[in-house]
Amino acid sequence: MTTDRPVIEFDHLSARYAADPLEVYREMRERCPVAWTDAHDGFWVTSTYSSVFAASRDDETYSSKKGRHGDLDHTGVVIPSEPTLRLLPIEVDPPELRPFRKVMNPAFGPKVVARLVPEFERLAAWCLDQVIESGEIDFVEDLASPVPAMATLLLVGLPVEDWPRHSRAFHGLVANAPGTPEHAEALELIHGIAGTVLTEIADRRPHPRDDLLTMLTQVEIDGRRLEDHEVGSIITTTLGGGIDTTTALIANALVYLDEHPEHRARLVTDDAFMSSFCEEMLRYFSPVQGFARTVTKDTELGGCPLRRGDRVFLSWAAANHDPEVFDEPEQIIPDRFPNRHTSFGIGSHRCVGSTLARAEFAVVVREVLRRMPDYTLADGAVRYSNVGTVNGWHRLPARFTPGEPARPEA
Ligand code: HEM
Repeated sequence: MTTDRPVIEFDHLSARYAADPLEVYREMRERCPVAWTDAHDGFWVTSTYSSVFAASRDDETYSSKKGRHGDLDHTGVVIPSEPTLRLLPIEVDPPELRPFRKVMNPAFGPKVVARLVPEFERLAAWCLDQVIESGEIDFVEDLASPVPAMATLLLVGLPVEDWPRHSRAFHGLVANAPGTPEHAEALELIHGIAGTVLTEIADRRPHPRDDLLTMLTQVEIDGRRLEDHEVGSIITTTLGGGIDTTTALIANALVYLDEHPEHRARLVTDDAFMSSFCEEMLRYFSPVQGFARTVTKDTELGGCPLRRGDRVFLSWAAANHDPEVFDEPEQIIPDRFPNRHTSFGIGSHRCVGSTLARAEFAVVVREVLRRMPDYTLADGAVRYSNVGTVNGWHRLPARFTPGEPARPEA
């Protein structure tokens, strides 16, 4: 290690980070916008909007690739690197990325989402029906976990009733630090899911349906059909991207609304307010706290000398609380405008599922507030012990005045 770099103690997987990520970034921003930490074999961390923005928009210098390319080891987008195969399209750079996004963007676009919204409503109503007469719910286990999982499976074309396996796998992966038995179990489950996906791909080639799996088996990129392992990789990224992130967003919003019931009635009737509320929840809680890049050439970021082969953690969470860009960044202002948060990423890898996530959020939050308008959180809430990847909750028990089932059609 050289001495010309500011060194801090930073570990996004630590208990200190989980206790108060904003405090960690506040301190860091005051000392140095970009700093080095020795955690996980060493990496840079960015704490300002401008440094996150600059690096995210420069794929040539800040690579998302995984694996050995030329003489350089690329570590992909998470620190520490996961022992999974390269994930498409998140672990490739432009220009290789572009054709993937060209075929994926419409498959996740507003038209597809509009068609799925009635399904999301049905799924949310079904979940609430299971508990509505009891007056008790665990907002994570009974709602925020199943609905995004089932919605993602529906889009992909996998059996919706298999949601518990997917939910367990992707929650387990992000909620537990690498090296723990829970994390190892999650990797095992994801391995099993990848096997199921390959079987489904083999089935879709001769038997097309109206789903993402079919589209990916038929589409041509650069004049050729995608190979099974490529389709499988895109599906795994989609499952990982779609399941736990939206769960965390919904859970944090329900915690906030427990403390601020004054916004509840308006959220049920005012779509524009729901939309700005969703953006503020995304900004403040930053469900995905950050992603990593590998530096491909010596450069400078925030006045710091980055070397070829270094890794950088681009913190969306830090950027989202930068006082240079957001007035009163540590206050939640439900109708904040403008709100140029970075929670879906910036640049060529910007989240392809953002429209889907926003739609799921609005459906689920509205349904809770409509059918359980007086809910209060009960004892027993458990937050992830590791929030550096996804800022989520394991458990969120609540009570409400019991109601009647809505019984949506199966
Ligand atoms: C609140 C919910 C969500 C958040 C906060 C979130 C966040 C992100 C972020 C920050 C990225 C950028 C990665 C990077 O720059 O390296 C990303 C990419 C991605 N997300 Fe999301 N996401 C959410 C929901 C979803 C959903 C619902 C899906 C699909 C069902 C999805 C699928 C993806 C995929 C496939 C990528 C990779 C895109 C690419 O590499 O070009 N995400 N997401």
